[in-house]
Amino acid sequence: MSDCNSNCDSCASKCSSAKPKNDFAVDAHELSNVKKVIGIVSGKGGVGKSLVTSLMSVNMNRKGYNTAILDADITGPSIPKAFGLKEKVVSNEMGIFPAKTNSGIEVMSINLLLANETDPVVWRGPVIAGTVKQFWSDVIWNDVDYMFVDMPPGTGDVPLTVFQSLPIDGIIGLW
Ligand SMILES: Nc1ncnc2c1ncn2[C@@H]1O[C@H](COP(=O)(O)OP(=O)(O)OP(=O)(O)O)[C@@H](O)[C@H]1O
Ligand SMILES: [Mg+2]
Repeated sequence: MSDCNSNCDSCASKCSSAKPKNDFAVDAHELSNVKKVIGIVSGKGGVGKSLVTSLMSVNMNRKGYNTAILDADITGPSIPKAFGLKEKVVSNEMGIFPAKTNSGIEVMSINLLLANETDPVVWRGPVIAGTVKQFWSDVIWNDVDYMFVDMPPGTGDVPLTVFQSLPIDGIIGLW
């Protein structure tokens, strides 16, 4: 297939070379097309994940690739602040449209949904994990070459959910 991106988990076509589906995989939005998904992880907090996510995104965007950031750090989102994003995301009956930085990087973060960005998010693990899955399934990620997923620290619910539910192509680990 000419438009194959090797992500069978996020592809609707039933071609002969399709790989078996991961049972925990969450389907991307039907209007999404994300070619590569890179997770940024660490064993502990404050080691530079959000900074590396931001710098990698800016760099790939400057190289001419369509770039996106999925901020999976629901309880400690940093990405909107790093890019000075203030506007809330908009949605319609089709789905949620990510925000765009000045240079055109698409961003989805809990901060862009909360009425007041300093409101604390005090949710149990399954709700947080469900939110991350919705950032993949309900957001229209239209034509993204590289998506960087900024994770919370450690090996808790969110990193496990991201690794099980999203078609991750690679990780950047900071220690
Ligand atoms: N290589 C570096 N040199 C100097 N300062 C850095 C470096 N990387 C990150 N920092 C600074 O350290 C602080 C923490 O960085 P950052 O928020 O990116 O970490 P994080 O791993 O995302 O943290 P958290 O686990 O809380 O999400 C920030 O103030 C950032 O500017
Ligand atoms: Mg961070």
